[in-house]
Amino acid sequence: MNTIRVGIIGASGLLGRGLYQQLSSKFCVRGTAFSRVSSNLDQLDALNFHALESWLNQFHPDVVVNLAAERRPDVCRERPEWSHEVNVTLPANLARICQLHSVPLLHLSTNYVFDGQSPPYHPEDQPHPINDYGRDKNEADQLVLKASSLHHCLRVPMLHGLSENLDESSVTTMLSPFFAHDGHEVFLDDEQIRYPAFVPDVAKVIEKILVQMVQKEHLSSFIHYCPEESFTKLEMGCIMLEHLGYSTHRLLPSKQPPKGAPRPHNVQLSCPYLKNHQWMNPTPFREAIGKTLDSLLCSQALQRAPSTP
Ligand SMILES: NC(=O)c1ccc[n+]([C@@H]2O[C@H](COP(=O)([O-])OP(=O)(O)OC[C@H]3O[C@@H](n4cnc5c(N)ncnc54)[C@H](OP(=O)(O)O)[C@@H]3O)[C@@H](O)[C@H]2O)c1
Repeated sequence: MNTIRVGIIGASGLLGRGLYQQLSSKFCVRGTAFSRVSSNLDQLDALNFHALESWLNQFHPDVVVNLAAERRPDVCRERPEWSHEVNVTLPANLARICQLHSVPLLHLSTNYVFDGQSPPYHPEDQPHPINDYGRDKNEADQLVLKASSLHHCLRVPMLHGLSENLDESSVTTMLSPFFAHDGHEVFLDDEQIRYPAFVPDVAKVIEKILVQMVQKEHLSSFIHYCPEESFTKLEMGCIMLEHLGYSTHRLLPSKQPPKGAPRPHNVQLSCPYLKNHQWMNPTPFREAIGKTLDSLLCSQALQRAPSTP
């Protein structure tokens, strides 16, 4: 079989960088960036239909992955029209272009398409999003799948992975107030349940799915990836501080409901397709978050506690 040609839209983001790294030694990979351009990526505004089509025409991928998105629910609430462009118009256009060229598309989606009231959610369960981000992602999922039976959607929970700053991941961003306000108490939600996933684990699964897609194996329209370990934000915050050698006494359970866009309570996803293939092998959270935090220490976005050897 010839080397598979994979196009990654949004290769400069948190998942995009991990996926590029996972695939580039095995496949012929080309990735795009929008604002964070680097020498190995092509600059592309994927909202420009013609630029997107011409990028695809030049590369002739066997399969495309779409990771371009506005993934922050609060930004989606504050800038709904712009977020709708990135989260709905962009994937809908991409799905159409891919369909015209008979190229299968794997579109990344989120567990936030569900309302979090009756987990776990099966891939065929009816979505019921409770915020703008979830509504946009759900609309995009439907449009992508409608464009072609070659296309598939992969839903994932909150991600963390090798990063250069705390705010790149909704897991590590919890520590921002801890480091911003020296000595102050920091309140974190201790009610809502989360299933943090490690980018290199997700990237390995995406690789397997892409091979299946190129080989035209049967795949369900929606595929779910979700580790089984669950935590509240407060629990994750304590684990992260322990890894960095800080006392957790400044972290306290929040007494107020979470601010900003509403978040679903518990959006555990059931993962029948990946489990049947024995592809669900997530790195334990403590080990995975240790690697994420170590990458932040390396980039000097974080410091270990002064007394830690
Ligand atoms: N992160 C999570 O916790 C999480 C959870 C569930 C699902 N997901 C989904 O997983 C996917 C990847 O998320 P992520 O965390 O990797 O996101 P991210 O780090 O915010 O990266 C977003 C990517 O989209 C690109 N982009 C934005 N506007 C663009 C445009 N007009 N044209 C081309 N590219 C554009 C960005 O490029 P520049 O950075 O170069 O501007 C970046 O590469 C998304 O579909 C997201 O909804 C993420």
